[in-house]
Amino acid sequence: MSLDIEPIMSSNGEPTPFEVQDLIPIIDYSLLTSGSANDHAKAVQDIGKACEDWGCFMLVNHGVPETLIQEMMDMSAAFFNMTNDEKLEFEAHGVLDPIRCSAGLNLVNPNKDTLWREYLRLIVHPDFNCPYKPPGFSELASEYVKRTRAVAMELVKGVSESLGFEALYMNRELNLDAGFQLLAINYYPSHVEFDVSRGLMPHTDHGLLTLLCENGVPGLEVIRGGKWVGMGGVPNAFSVLNADHLEIFSNGKYKSKLHRTVVTDKRKRITLVNPNGPSLDTIVGPSSRIVDGEKRLPRYHPMKFSEYLECQTKLITAGKNALDEIRIPI
Ligand code: OGA
Ligand code: NI
Repeated sequence: MSLDIEPIMSSNGEPTPFEVQDLIPIIDYSLLTSGSANDHAKAVQDIGKACEDWGCFMLVNHGVPETLIQEMMDMSAAFFNMTNDEKLEFEAHGVLDPIRCSAGLNLVNPNKDTLWREYLRLIVHPDFNCPYKPPGFSELASEYVKRTRAVAMELVKGVSESLGFEALYMNRELNLDAGFQLLAINYYPSHVEFDVSRGLMPHTDHGLLTLLCENGVPGLEVIRGGKWVGMGGVPNAFSVLNADHLEIFSNGKYKSKLHRTVVTDKRKRITLVNPNGPSLDTIVGPSSRIVDGEKRLPRYHPMKFSEYLECQTKLITAGKNALDEIRIPI
C-alpha cells in the first residue's frame, strides 16, 4: 500500500478533491454477451484496457433486474434495523465463518475517532449461507448471488481473453467452479442516526474481481495518480474493482485497486459487495503461461488462497496490505 496518498478525511473535513467522474471507464456488459463476434472482441479489448489502465470500471447493462437490487437494498436495511440483540446472534470473528455480522460494535455510542459502518458478510459459494431472518432474506439473497455470480464469471472469462488466453483458462487454473465467493453488505447509517464519520479505510480486496452495487448514496473512492477519485453514481451500474488475486495471477499487469469509502451524505448508504475468488485450496501465483511463456520473472510468491485470507485479516488490523508480503522485489 502506498504511503504517499492523502489521509482519509472525515465527514467534518474538507471535501475530497474529485476528478471528473466520467473518466472511469464504462463497460457495456451486453456487448460481451451479445453473440456478435465484433461486439465481444470490442468488450474484451475494453475490459483489458480498463483493468490495465484504471484497475476498475463501471459495468452497465448487466441484466440483473433493478427490482431485485431494490428488494435486496430494502431487505438489507430491514436486517440492520433489527435490534442489536437480534443481530448479535450472527456475530462472528473468523474470516472463514460462514455468517459474520459486526453487531459487536458499540451501536449506542460509536467511537467518534474511527470510521464507522455495520456489515454482514456471508460466504455464498460454493455453499450458500444467510441469516434466517428477516423472513425471505435467504431466498432473495440466493437469487441475487446467483445473478451477480453469473455476471462475475462472464467478466472473468472476458478478463482471461483480454490476457491473451482462452475464455475458460482462468476458470480452470483457479478452480472457479468451486470458487470462494462472499456477499458483503455494508450499512453506513445516516448522519441523523449517528453523528460520526462513516466510511471504510483504504484497502484492496482479495479475489479476482469485486462487484459493488450501491443504493444511490455516494461514497466509494479509488486512487488514481495519487488522488482519490469518486466512483459510482451511474444509475443501475455496478462498480467493478480489480482485486489482489487478479494482480498476482496476471503477474502485476492488472493491479489490485486501492479504494476507500467516505460518506458525507446525510442519507444512509448501503452497498452489496461480491468479492469473487478461486477455491480455498487453490495455490495462487503468477500464471505459468505468463511467467514461462513470456519469459518474465514471477513477481509474487504463490500462496494458498485460504492462507492469504487469514494473513490479510491479520495484517489489516495492523494497517498493512497482504500483497506487500508476497510481492517479490525487482
Ligand atoms: C468492501 C468495500 C466499499 C463500500 O466491502 O470491501 O470496499 O462503499 N466496500 O461499501
Ligand atoms: Ni473493498
